[in-house]
Amino acid sequence: MTILEAIEQRHSVRRYTLQPIEADKVIALKELVDQCNRESGLHIQLVIDEPKAFSSPLVHYGTFSGVMNYLAMIGPSDDPLLDEKLGYYGEKIVLEAQRMGLNTCWVALTFRKNRKAYTVNAGEKLRCVVAIGYGQSQGAGHKIKTIDQVSQCDGPMPDWFRRGVEAALLAPTAINQQKFIFTLHEGNRVEARARWGFYEIIDLGIVKYHFEVAAGKDNFTWL
Ligand SMILES: Cc1cc2nc3c(=O)[nH]c(=O)nc-3n(C[C@H](O)[C@H](O)[C@H](O)COP(=O)(O)O)c2cc1C
Repeated sequence: MTILEAIEQRHSVRRYTLQPIEADKVIALKELVDQCNRESGLHIQLVIDEPKAFSSPLVHYGTFSGVMNYLAMIGPSDDPLLDEKLGYYGEKIVLEAQRMGLNTCWVALTFRKNRKAYTVNAGEKLRCVVAIGYGQSQGAGHKIKTIDQVSQCDGPMPDWFRRGVEAALLAPTAINQQKFIFTLHEGNRVEARARWGFYEIIDLGIVKYHFEVAAGKDNFTWL
């Protein structure tokens, strides 16, 4: 499966089977997490076989079931780009997981913090998690905005820009808000902005990763 196919096939999955993630896939995911952390200065951690974040004797969190594994999305509190980087690198890991046949769901609210399961150093914070495992289903597509609602471009729209925006529209965003806008400026410079919303800067990082994959990094520069 290519990354573009992973973008098309990925949907949020909230109910998981108890099938464990195979050791070779855990190793590959951990290597990718380490690589992302080295590149970004983040402290993302893959937590395996830890059901407590999504259940307790008293509460079942939201519509989730069978979540045994997740990514703890952690990074330095004083990094002004923290949320955008978490979105960008987190989605890179999400799409690799999809290519491995796994399912995922970004989760900002409906989980319980379990500090014993991961390390949050002084000066760091946990912003959200991403559930990961074998879904009971592959999930379903979300309602999407139109290209015109989320992009601006004077004159004819280049194919690469359209492909990028289309891929961004397939991305996960908190409560499916899709509060982003891509603007094409002279010299193939692309500006991506978030409108005010809920975890909208994490969304911005996520949609920028999708855009980059589909538009092709060589076709433009970020403004
Ligand atoms: C930053 C972020 C936070 C999210 N938080 C939650 C959450 O707390 N609970 C939940 O059920 N889904 C959560 N989601 C999943 C979104 O609801 C989902 O991505 C959106 O509805 C689009 O559906 P899709 O991912 O299947 O394309 C979150 C997604 C993102 C990107």
